[in-house]
Amino acid sequence: MTFVVTENCIKCKFTDCVDVCPVDCFHEGPNFLVIDPDECIDCTLCEPECPANAIFAEDELPEGQDVFIALNAELAKLWPVITDVQSALPDADEWNGKEGKLNLLER
Ligand code: SF4
Ligand code: F3S
Repeated sequence: MTFVVTENCIKCKFTDCVDVCPVDCFHEGPNFLVIDPDECIDCTLCEPECPANAIFAEDELPEGQDVFIALNAELAKLWPVITDVQSALPDADEWNGKEGKLNLLER
Protein backbone atom coordinates (compact mmCIF):
# COMPACT_ATOMS: atom_id res chain seq x y z
CA MET A 1 0.00 0.00 0.00
CA THR A 2 0.98 3.59 -0.42
CA PHE A 3 -0.47 7.03 -0.01
CA VAL A 4 -1.21 9.03 -3.15
CA VAL A 5 -1.26 12.76 -3.95
CA THR A 6 -4.35 13.56 -5.99
CA GLU A 7 -5.69 16.28 -8.25
CA ASN A 8 -6.38 19.01 -5.72
CA CYS A 9 -2.65 19.48 -5.06
CA ILE A 10 -2.22 20.81 -8.61
CA LYS A 11 -1.66 24.60 -8.64
CA CYS A 12 -1.78 24.68 -4.81
CA LYS A 13 1.34 22.81 -3.61
CA PHE A 14 1.03 23.86 0.01
CA THR A 15 3.94 21.50 0.95
CA ASP A 16 2.84 21.03 4.60
CA CYS A 17 2.93 17.31 3.80
CA VAL A 18 6.70 17.10 3.34
CA ASP A 19 7.38 18.28 6.88
CA VAL A 20 5.96 15.16 8.50
CA CYS A 21 7.13 12.37 6.19
CA PRO A 22 9.66 10.25 8.10
CA VAL A 23 11.12 8.69 4.96
CA ASP A 24 11.28 11.66 2.57
CA CYS A 25 9.08 10.18 -0.11
CA PHE A 26 7.71 13.41 -1.58
CA HIS A 27 9.01 14.54 -4.97
CA GLU A 28 8.44 18.01 -6.39
CA GLY A 29 7.37 19.14 -9.82
CA PRO A 30 6.50 22.65 -11.04
CA ASN A 31 2.94 22.71 -9.66
CA PHE A 32 2.34 19.32 -8.01
CA LEU A 33 3.92 16.91 -5.56
CA VAL A 34 3.91 13.13 -5.70
CA ILE A 35 4.67 10.30 -3.27
CA ASP A 36 7.12 7.58 -4.23
CA PRO A 37 5.16 4.35 -3.69
CA ASP A 38 8.37 2.40 -3.23
CA GLU A 39 9.38 4.57 -0.27
CA CYS A 40 6.04 5.22 1.46
CA ILE A 41 5.67 3.21 4.69
CA ASP A 42 1.95 3.99 5.16
CA CYS A 43 2.53 5.92 8.34
CA THR A 44 -0.57 8.08 7.58
CA LEU A 45 1.05 11.25 8.99
CA CYS A 46 0.82 13.31 5.79
CA GLU A 47 -2.87 12.79 5.08
CA PRO A 48 -4.26 15.19 7.73
CA GLU A 49 -1.55 17.79 7.09
CA CYS A 50 -2.67 18.73 3.56
CA PRO A 51 -4.80 21.91 3.59
CA ALA A 52 -6.21 20.84 0.23
CA ASN A 53 -7.16 17.33 1.40
CA ALA A 54 -5.28 15.97 -1.61
CA ILE A 55 -3.64 12.94 0.05
CA PHE A 56 -5.39 9.58 0.32
CA ALA A 57 -4.53 5.98 0.98
CA GLU A 58 -4.30 4.06 -2.27
CA ASP A 59 -7.36 1.98 -1.41
CA GLU A 60 -9.46 4.97 -0.33
CA LEU A 61 -9.12 7.21 -3.38
CA PRO A 62 -12.17 9.31 -4.29
CA GLU A 63 -13.95 8.49 -7.53
CA GLY A 64 -12.02 9.53 -10.61
CA GLN A 65 -8.68 9.79 -8.83
CA ASP A 66 -7.33 6.31 -9.67
CA VAL A 67 -5.18 7.77 -12.46
CA PHE A 68 -3.03 9.38 -9.79
CA ILE A 69 -1.68 6.03 -8.60
CA ALA A 70 0.29 5.62 -11.83
CA LEU A 71 1.11 9.34 -12.03
CA ASN A 72 2.67 9.37 -8.55
CA ALA A 73 4.77 6.32 -9.40
CA GLU A 74 5.87 7.74 -12.76
CA LEU A 75 6.67 11.28 -11.67
CA ALA A 76 8.44 10.20 -8.46
CA LYS A 77 11.10 8.69 -10.72
CA LEU A 78 11.51 11.94 -12.66
CA TRP A 79 11.26 14.67 -10.02
CA PRO A 80 13.67 15.52 -7.14
CA VAL A 81 12.92 14.82 -3.48
CA ILE A 82 11.51 17.73 -1.45
CA THR A 83 12.02 17.76 2.32
CA ASP A 84 11.50 21.40 3.32
CA VAL A 85 8.23 23.30 3.49
CA GLN A 86 7.97 26.11 0.96
CA SER A 87 5.46 28.86 0.32
CA ALA A 88 2.36 27.62 -1.45
CA LEU A 89 1.97 28.58 -5.09
CA PRO A 90 0.49 32.01 -5.82
CA ASP A 91 -3.31 31.81 -5.87
CA ALA A 92 -3.21 28.45 -4.07
CA ASP A 93 -6.26 29.38 -2.03
CA GLU A 94 -8.20 30.24 -5.18
CA TRP A 95 -7.30 26.95 -6.85
CA ASN A 96 -8.03 24.87 -3.75
CA GLY A 97 -11.14 22.84 -4.51
CA LYS A 98 -11.39 23.61 -8.22
CA GLU A 99 -12.21 20.60 -10.40
CA GLY A 100 -10.62 19.63 -13.68
CA LYS A 101 -7.05 20.57 -12.78
CA LEU A 102 -5.41 17.45 -14.21
CA ASN A 103 -4.83 19.09 -17.60
CA LEU A 104 -2.99 21.93 -15.83
CA LEU A 105 -0.35 19.57 -14.43
CA GLU A 106 3.10 20.75 -15.51
CA ARG A 107 5.94 18.32 -15.96
FE1 SF4 B 1 5.38 9.73 3.96
FE2 SF4 B 1 3.87 8.49 5.75
FE3 SF4 B 1 2.74 10.05 3.90
FE4 SF4 B 1 3.80 7.72 3.19
S1 SF4 B 1 2.03 7.99 4.53
S2 SF4 B 1 4.07 9.68 2.15
S3 SF4 B 1 5.55 7.58 4.62
S4 SF4 B 1 4.13 10.72 5.54
FE1 F3S C 1 0.09 19.19 -2.27
FE2 F3S C 1 -1.22 19.09 -0.02
FE3 F3S C 1 1.29 18.53 -0.03
S1 F3S C 1 -1.50 20.61 -1.63
S2 F3S C 1 2.09 19.81 -1.64
S3 F3S C 1 -0.27 17.39 -1.07
S4 F3S C 1 0.23 19.67 1.51
